[in-house]
Amino acid sequence: MKVLVTGMNGFIGQHWLRALVASGATVVATGKGPQRFPFVENTRYCDLDITDAEAVNALLATEQPTAILHAAAISKPDVCEQDHPLADRVNRAGTQHLLSAAAALGSYFCFLSTDFVFDGRKGMYVETDLPCPVNYYGHTKWQAEQLVQQYPKGWSIVRTVTVYGQPVAGRPNILSTVVDKLKRGETYSVFDDQIRTPTYAGDLASGVATLIRGSHNGIFHLSGEEVLTPYEMAIRTATYLGLEASLLTRVSAETLQQPAKRPMRTGFVIEKAKKAIGFNPCSFDDGLQLCFPKP
Ligand SMILES: NC(=O)c1ccc[n+]([C@@H]2O[C@H](COP(=O)([O-])OP(=O)(O)OC[C@H]3O[C@@H](n4cnc5c(N)ncnc54)[C@H](OP(=O)(O)O)[C@@H]3O)[C@@H](O)[C@H]2O)c1
Repeated sequence: MKVLVTGMNGFIGQHWLRALVASGATVVATGKGPQRFPFVENTRYCDLDITDAEAVNALLATEQPTAILHAAAISKPDVCEQDHPLADRVNRAGTQHLLSAAAALGSYFCFLSTDFVFDGRKGMYVETDLPCPVNYYGHTKWQAEQLVQQYPKGWSIVRTVTVYGQPVAGRPNILSTVVDKLKRGETYSVFDDQIRTPTYAGDLASGVATLIRGSHNGIFHLSGEEVLTPYEMAIRTATYLGLEASLLTRVSAETLQQPAKRPMRTGFVIEKAKKAIGFNPCSFDDGLQLCFPKP
């Protein structure tokens, strides 16, 4: 099986490689600009800007992938809120370019989406809950999901929540930011009124690799099972690493205004993925040990 992946220079993308290669796939890794992650055997890197429809067509026609894993996006909600045309170009139109080129080949299409498609009023969402995004990032990801659902060949939409892990090539994530700040003795304000089910990047990668290998169809929620606020995640990280937890300040959405509104209560029920692919995510404490192994 040959899998073409987008967004490989991103934080999550860098975690796909080993899981996909371990599942027996040959990987064509793509990203915007030069490769920024370590080389892994059985993989090749190509520069691909997904907003360039001609470049997308040309690369897919040359590579003829069996499957496409589409993770590239403008992933920062505040950037999307402040630049709607950019968010539209990458998150919606970029997805359409890939779908059109993939349909001509009959490739299986797996799209990485987000808990931010929901409004955050209900919490603990199942796959059949109706999206209703509260910010522009969520709006463009929901639009892209709807395009994927019209794809005439095999497809899956994988929604995930607050992904944490080792930053492979220095791209930060919530835990690495906490650790960097506290190690520098800086204070850090973290939300304590948002509910999430944080996801270990390695679990997401192996879950997605299993979905692709089995060409599973439909929407799947892949996340951890523990319900935590970002503040609770930060405190547990500081405690685990023996860092100064008093530097963490608990804030609410009202006190720390951001350009993009966040859904307050998300988190996923993952029973469907457990049954379909045996998805079995680690606890947050185990995830911490995997991210920051102690001798
Ligand atoms: N991280 C999370 O907690 C989380 C949660 C739910 C869903 N997701 C989804 O997971 C996916 C990956 O997220 P992430 O956290 O890994 O974000 P990320 O680190 O920002 O990675 C996104 C990647 O997309 C690339 N990209 C942007 N515009 C592009 C274009 N025009 N052509 C090709 N590539 C382009 C970026 O390139 P540059 O590196 O050059 O900027 C970046 O490498 C996204 O689809 C996001 O919606 C993430």
